[in-house]
Amino acid sequence: MKTNVKPNEQVRNLKPYQVDQTEYPIRLDANETSNLLFEHGINIENFSFHRYPDHEARVLRSKLSSWLHVEMKHIVVGNGSSELIELIFKTFLSKGDRVISFEPTFSMYEVYAQLYGIRYEKIPWEKTSEASIDQMIEQIKREKPKAIFLCTPNNPTGFQLKKQDVKRLLNATDAFVIIDEAYIEFAVQEESLTQEVIAYPNACVLRTFSKAFGLASIRLGYMIAHENITSWINRVRSPYHVNQLSQWIGSVALDQRESVMNHIRLVIIERERLYREFIKLGLPVETSQGNFLYIQPSTYHLNDELKRRGIIIREWPNGSSRITVGQPHENDQLINALKEIIQ
Ligand SMILES: Cc1ncc(COP(=O)(O)O)c(C=O)c1O
Repeated sequence: MKTNVKPNEQVRNLKPYQVDQTEYPIRLDANETSNLLFEHGINIENFSFHRYPDHEARVLRSKLSSWLHVEMKHIVVGNGSSELIELIFKTFLSKGDRVISFEPTFSMYEVYAQLYGIRYEKIPWEKTSEASIDQMIEQIKREKPKAIFLCTPNNPTGFQLKKQDVKRLLNATDAFVIIDEAYIEFAVQEESLTQEVIAYPNACVLRTFSKAFGLASIRLGYMIAHENITSWINRVRSPYHVNQLSQWIGSVALDQRESVMNHIRLVIIERERLYREFIKLGLPVETSQGNFLYIQPSTYHLNDELKRRGIIIREWPNGSSRITVGQPHENDQLINALKEIIQ
């Protein structure tokens, strides 16, 4: 059948985000966490389903504002932080512009770059925060990018940049610097740029409810930035883009922050336990500030072997893998499975 409906050039070449939807008893592939926040359910009886959502997400933003000590005008919420990443491309970048990031990092920066016809370049991480930022500053001088994506702690390696280094980069460029702090709650809080970022008209911090808050299903993320950034994003975003149920569940979760923080402490304890076990097994594992551990390419086919034992992790074509920290009993099963595979 003949049709004139064809995708544009960028979409034709797009490598889509791959999701394995097969059911596995233990899922350690997507950095989710189950913090039992709404263990006893949530009552939606009096919810006004016939109304459009609050376009300004005022209740949610005001709670975020009190928690983070950042004024509401500096906060924009999104349908997951993924939507905010796309809005950055849509709003501030044009076809042919250059964007730089480190490699490996969160794959969606590159997917959106491709979608919007942006040249995406990557440089390798160095051993330290200082050396990585030094290299990035050199690259910025050479390539003059329009935007730089810094994922810290980095997905998938778990490496966290130091605040003083990120600030050095902010002071060395007028390009847009996106600081993705999706995993910050599991990391060293003092290195977060959440409060300081608003002083820079060319930077933003991205955060999400999908990780530490254990709310990946509601698709809720937020950006903290100078009004120069938030005002443009507010102009471009779709009307009512964050649904009211998600806004409300996010607000209720913020009221229960204490139990979320307790859960984070448990994840960190379990992360360190897994790290020690992986070292004992001789796996080339990196220290991590996220809710996951990164294993450099090894001779073991961990993904296939673990899948056979009902556990799914994330693996890359070069043989490296990322394992999400699960519940204690899931981690026990993981360790036993790894012992079987390796010993
Ligand atoms: C570094 C990083 N940023 C952003 C996201 C997207 O998160 P969200 O669920 O808020 O869209 C992820 C998801 O895995 C991530 O790892």
